[in-house]
Amino acid sequence: MTKRQSPMTKTIASFALALGLLVGTTQAMAAEEGDLPSAGTNIRDQASLQRGAKLFFNYCVGCHSLKYVRYSRMAEDLGLSEDEVMKNLNFTGAKFGDPVISHMPEDLAQQY
Ligand code: HEC
Repeated sequence: MTKRQSPMTKTIASFALALGLLVGTTQAMAAEEGDLPSAGTNIRDQASLQRGAKLFFNYCVGCHSLKYVRYSRMAEDLGLSEDEVMKNLNFTGAKFGDPVISHMPEDLAQQY
């Protein structure tokens, strides 16, 4: 029997994956210099997750997509209204039900 992930777990997992990759890289580099202390991340802290979403949508989405996350699902999981998401976290003109896709054109991304 497979255990079904909660909706919030899936959105958290998407953000955590991006950040986890960065942490993983840092840890791999740190392994040569000694262990780092825990980052103390609390993935159940909704205010913290909302701040992370703000950072992601102000910086990272310029180049990175979250193609398996819809704006509507993120709103639900992070306790945000449709209005809050569409006014503050959507700068591409995407619809509420659309997945989060960066507007970086693929040919330019390849070039960069
Ligand atoms: C200006 C474009 C740009 C922005 C903005 C950007 N990234 Fe990246 N990111 C890249 C590129 C390009 C790579 C691939 C670099 C490489 O492979 O050498 C990358 C790689 C990554 C990786 C993989 C690192 C690895 O070691 O494999 C992660 C994770 C990541 N970015 C997360 C983020 C996060 C989180 C933000 C926002 C805080 C962000 N990126 C903002 C362009 C960007």
